[in-house]
Amino acid sequence: MSDQYAVIGNPIGHTKSPLIHGLFAQETGQDMTYVAIEGPVEPADAFADTVRAFIAAGGKGMNITAPFKLQAFAMADERSERAALAGAVNAMKFEDGRVIAENFDGVGLVRDIEVNLNQPMSGKRVLVLGAGGAVRGALLPFLGARPAQLVVANRHVDKAQALVEQVAAGGTLTACGYAELDSMGPFDLVVNATSASLTGQLPPVPPSVFGARGTAYELAYGKGLTPFLRLARNAGVQGIADGVGMLVEQAAEAFAWWRGVRPQTRAVIDRLTVPLD
Ligand code: ATR
Repeated sequence: MSDQYAVIGNPIGHTKSPLIHGLFAQETGQDMTYVAIEGPVEPADAFADTVRAFIAAGGKGMNITAPFKLQAFAMADERSERAALAGAVNAMKFEDGRVIAENFDGVGLVRDIEVNLNQPMSGKRVLVLGAGGAVRGALLPFLGARPAQLVVANRHVDKAQALVEQVAAGGTLTACGYAELDSMGPFDLVVNATSASLTGQLPPVPPSVFGARGTAYELAYGKGLTPFLRLARNAGVQGIADGVGMLVEQAAEAFAWWRGVRPQTRAVIDRLTVPLD
């Protein structure tokens, strides 16, 4: 029987993961299946039961999406450092009955920015908007890319501050509110990791944060020219991107972790790209 993998979430109808992993498996010649599972939201322990049933049926690994990333974290036997910092898990591997947990969202994002968009972060000024789960997962990989400065801005500054203190990365990493961004000048990279775009809203970011030669990155995927990207474009930013590359790159990281072979991502990203306008 082929090795079995799945993505679990609720709702799950929108997921691109089976398509992405199907294309990876084809390209690398791996004998595996990958399906989408709609996980139970209630009762509280039903999620873990569903995962255990998948393992009992021979499952080798899973991707985890909303709203189960915290429950996946809780049920894991082993967690990587970045999963531990994120407090959330987006990929699991099952070995000898043990659940090993990872979070590839942040590394996928860094890889998309540095490799696909060709914008190395080393020595650059980087601004991240938001302080939710997406940012928690991204901080360690971002710091690993050695920016000169990494600023996390959030409406509730205390939330950003708490994150920064948790990482304790010295002077490189700082937290602030949106009002303070006014006096900080342009950044080389601005990443919108808030959930504002999901509801068509704009985080209260001043246009002065955008540099003409910089990059504006919207974590959301397939939402077109969001208010954030529109603001960046109007401010003269040349490089604007949404999260399609991150989506494919985090999948490639999980695939390589599971199968020991790294798939090509360019053709898959091109296939999934929805034009911004
Ligand atoms: P998750 O953990 O799933 O990423 P979350 O914890 O709800 O989700 O985080 C969402 C992030 O988007 C938060 O940083 C939130 O800001 P606050 O913590 O200040 O609430 C941010 N966010 C949501 N809507 C926003 C908006 N309209 N403008 C600015 N930030 C917004």
